[in-house]
Amino acid sequence: MMCLPTSPPALRTCLGLGLFVLLCLGIGQALEKKVVKSKVGEKVSLPCCHEIPSSESLRKYRVYWQKNITDVVLAYSEGNMLPQHERYQNRTEMDPRNLTLWISPVEILDNGSYQCVVQRNSVLVCSESVILFVTADFSKPNITAEVSADSCKLTEMVITCSSHGGFPKPRISGALNNMSMEWNASWVSESSFSPYNVTGKMVLNVTKDVTITCSVEYSGFATSTSLLLTKTNNCVVPPVSPPYNVITASIIIVITFILAVTLAARYLPRHVCSHCCKRQDSVEEGVKEHTKAPKRSKVTAETSSV
Ligand SMILES: *[C@@H]1O[C@H](CO)[C@@H](O)[C@H](O)[C@H]1NC(C)=O
Ligand SMILES: *[C@@H]1O[C@H](CO)[C@@H](O)[C@H](O)[C@H]1NC(C)=O
Ligand SMILES: *[C@@H]1O[C@H](CO)[C@@H](O)[C@H](O)[C@H]1NC(C)=O
Ligand SMILES: *[C@@H]1O[C@H](CO)[C@@H](O)[C@H](O)[C@H]1NC(C)=O
Ligand SMILES: *[C@@H]1O[C@H](CO)[C@@H](O)[C@H](O)[C@H]1NC(C)=O
Ligand SMILES: *[C@@H]1O[C@H](CO)[C@@H](O)[C@H](O)[C@H]1NC(C)=O
Ligand SMILES: *[C@@H]1O[C@H](CO)[C@@H](O)[C@H](O)[C@H]1NC(C)=O
Ligand SMILES: *[C@@H]1O[C@H](CO)[C@@H](O)[C@H](O)[C@H]1NC(C)=O
Ligand SMILES: *[C@@H]1O[C@H](CO)[C@@H](O)[C@H](O)[C@H]1NC(C)=O
Repeated sequence: MMCLPTSPPALRTCLGLGLFVLLCLGIGQALEKKVVKSKVGEKVSLPCCHEIPSSESLRKYRVYWQKNITDVVLAYSEGNMLPQHERYQNRTEMDPRNLTLWISPVEILDNGSYQCVVQRNSVLVCSESVILFVTADFSKPNITAEVSADSCKLTEMVITCSSHGGFPKPRISGALNNMSMEWNASWVSESSFSPYNVTGKMVLNVTKDVTITCSVEYSGFATSTSLLLTKTNNCVVPPVSPPYNVITASIIIVITFILAVTLAARYLPRHVCSHCCKRQDSVEEGVKEHTKAPKRSKVTAETSSV
């Protein structure tokens, strides 16, 4: 049968705690499994299958919360706590009525299948399995692009997308202007129960501006980043029409200049000698109202000195 522990130490643990029979019954009944997801560091609650009525107390019951057949997560017999696996010490609580198990803070190693087994006066009341999926968030992907070759037609880029510190092992996917594409992915992790770092690489020939997206998906969660890649143009730059505000500014300067010259030409020759200084002042004032360009006063001064 599936529930027979394979290794002798596990068997001893099982029998030693008197859980073996309960386990077999527990597994026999665990057809539909509940699933709970939790993130590393959070507090998670795993529901049991029985609620003790208010007329009774935990003293009449034996309650076992165990993981992976062999590990005692939290267990009570006649109201007393039984020895638990070291990994769960000081991290667990159980509601004395509905027998919900609380684990805080959740660790990656807590991932797995848990069983709650309830016995009253040595008779099995119920047993149930709950699967705990532990996840850890990946950092927002960091996309970097490095130009490896550049020509008039195309820019060859080496794109790298990286994200770290998450669990479980993620999938990395990509899109180029929303057309899906594959990253050449690599993963690093100290063990299969440690956080993962993931890196995706690709070489791309960019002929026009494109948006590249990198998504990291893990246990139903996802995080993604997009980056606009622009083709670095190293061809001879064709003449381009200047933007609107440059044109406007140019027109204003030209008009002001013409105005200044016109005014100067009109007033200055007629009032040479004695009045000229005063006149020139007024002309300069008039000019200043139209322009901030310092060149203008120089032009007027030159004209007046003739
Ligand atoms: C069990 O009781 C606790 C309060 O102690 C409550 O927060 C929790 O939702 C209950 N769980 C279920 C499954 O009823
Ligand atoms: C669960 O127990 C099985 C054997 O019963 C063992 O092979 C496996 O490594 C255990 N898994 C964990 C996470 O302890
Ligand atoms: C749990 O807490 C007790 C008392 O604070 C402490 O003596 C014990 O070492 C702790 N156990 C673990 C596994 O941290
Ligand atoms: C977490 O536990 C579930 C249930 O045992 C298992 O299917 C899943 O593969 C585990 N995840 C990891 C990353 O080991
Ligand atoms: C992204 O990666 C580059 C190159 O490895 C690094 O210089 C930069 O600091 C990273 N940015 C972030 C937000 O991690
Ligand atoms: C690409 O984007 C357009 C508009 O943004 C959208 O209509 C289209 O469905 C997208 N295609 C795919 C394959 O996601
Ligand atoms: C992916 O990267 C590995 C190591 O960098 C390389 O050996 C392999 O050829 C690459 N695969 C593709 C499809 O680019
Ligand atoms: C994963 O990345 C982080 C941050 O870049 C780094 O500190 C850590 O050592 C990496 N882990 C592994 C297993 O390489
Ligand atoms: C990019 O273009 C260069 C030159 O045409 C070619 O040698 C290279 O294989 C192309 N790379 C990719 C990824 O298409």
